[in-house]
Amino acid sequence: MTNASVDLLRKYNVPGPRYTSYPTVPYWDTTPTEAQWIDRIDNAIGADTAHSGASLYVHIPFCRSLCTYCGCNMRVTRNHGLVLPYVETVLREYGLYRERLGRSALHIGEIHLGGGTPTFLRPEELETLLAGLLGPATVAPQASLSLEVDPRTTTREQLVVLRRHGFNRISLGVQDFDPRVQDIVNRIQTEAQVREVTDTSRELGFQSVNFDLIYGLPLQTLESITATMDAVVRLKPDRIAFYAYAHVPWIKPSQRRFTEADLPEGDAKRALYELGRARLEAAGYLEVGMDHFALPSDDLVIASRAGRLHRNFMGYTPAFTRPLLGLGVSSIGDAGDAFVQNEKNLQQYEERIARGELPIQRGHRLDEEDRVLRGHILNLMTRLETRWDATHDYTPFLDSVPARLEELRRDGLLVIDGTNVRVNEAGRAYLRNVCMAFDARLIRKAPATQLFSQTV
Ligand SMILES: C[S@@+](CC[C@H](N)C(=O)[O-])C[C@H]1O[C@@H](n2cnc3c(N)ncnc32)[C@H](O)[C@@H]1O
Ligand code: SF4
Repeated sequence: MTNASVDLLRKYNVPGPRYTSYPTVPYWDTTPTEAQWIDRIDNAIGADTAHSGASLYVHIPFCRSLCTYCGCNMRVTRNHGLVLPYVETVLREYGLYRERLGRSALHIGEIHLGGGTPTFLRPEELETLLAGLLGPATVAPQASLSLEVDPRTTTREQLVVLRRHGFNRISLGVQDFDPRVQDIVNRIQTEAQVREVTDTSRELGFQSVNFDLIYGLPLQTLESITATMDAVVRLKPDRIAFYAYAHVPWIKPSQRRFTEADLPEGDAKRALYELGRARLEAAGYLEVGMDHFALPSDDLVIASRAGRLHRNFMGYTPAFTRPLLGLGVSSIGDAGDAFVQNEKNLQQYEERIARGELPIQRGHRLDEEDRVLRGHILNLMTRLETRWDATHDYTPFLDSVPARLEELRRDGLLVIDGTNVRVNEAGRAYLRNVCMAFDARLIRKAPATQLFSQTV
């Protein structure tokens, strides 16, 4: 990296949100009642005149062992007895939604099983879950049915069940192939294990295979990232999410199990990304949005070129589906003009469902300003560009945005043409910082303690 780019990194490396939603979760302050939430969902279903269908996100919190970097809502257990009651509770929650909405079946455009580890479920438990989700549903022709798997705990039998139910996308948690890094984060996983799950998925007809990788893990170096990328290129997934390690030990104390001195930070961390990106681009991958890569044949690139890329709580997606119903502990739902998050504690989640309640723990009803700013942040995250005028996509807060972007403009990271903001390639690394200039809630009330990971 040049001296100039190191200076930019030092200047803009501040705590900031990842903008999977706007307003960001810490700023939610108007939780909808159950009736209001159902009303918003119903409106969103009614507004789906293209019949794209709704999205379901199902959270499976269980994991077999702890990866010490993990920032997800998960529960390490060896007690398999927890699983079936949990699956039944999730299906009961789904039933509560259908009952409240007065619809015996939903029209589905997207399902994503996330975690935790969805492949903690045995084949017969997956069968129960998927039959329960898809039985009372019609599925849109182009639907995306996807899940996250841990290659260490994924079997052919599980993949067969998933394919039988129409699952067509799979995402493997890979993170890093270097044995020293794997050892310090307590996640030993060989290239052979990853190859086996990748090959089996392709053989069974999964349309797209994604790898999750992380840069900024303890002990990672330019050499270790080179070796990891060599292995990735050999296995040739269709998509890659190359996430910045989010170090949030005040939320996830297990991240204190390695010493912070082992963490690459600031310019050293960014150099890992730059190296990884160069390696992936040389192998034919294209960068999409922030931290994502895909082969030119993948839907993500096709959608990005057509200006149809979307971003939701699960990351980038080629399809726009709404509403999103979040089922399971800690899951988030999105009706477009309102968000909710379920109880994060497993017992409280299960108890509320047992009482016949939707387990909403908190949420937010977007006001007019939230809605306009959400649109601009989404445009930036997906197209690196946004615009407004006095009659379109306007709210008075926007008047102050160009002044707030001036320094980024002077540093050559974006172009401002009246009320059109365009982030250039050099600015892609600072997309979170650009979005922060549109984040009225963050600007009006800076957090008293650190809430977010560093932007770089
Ligand atoms: C639920 S996990 C994926 C499935 C499965 N549990 C596994 O790990 O193989 C979701 C992804 O979040 C990412 N992740 C977890 N903790 C993170 C952190 N602290 N910073 C950045 N990414 C993280 C990892 O890349 C991980 O693959
Ligand atoms: S990274 Fe995946 S397998 Fe590891 S603890 Fe987190 S959710 Fe579980």
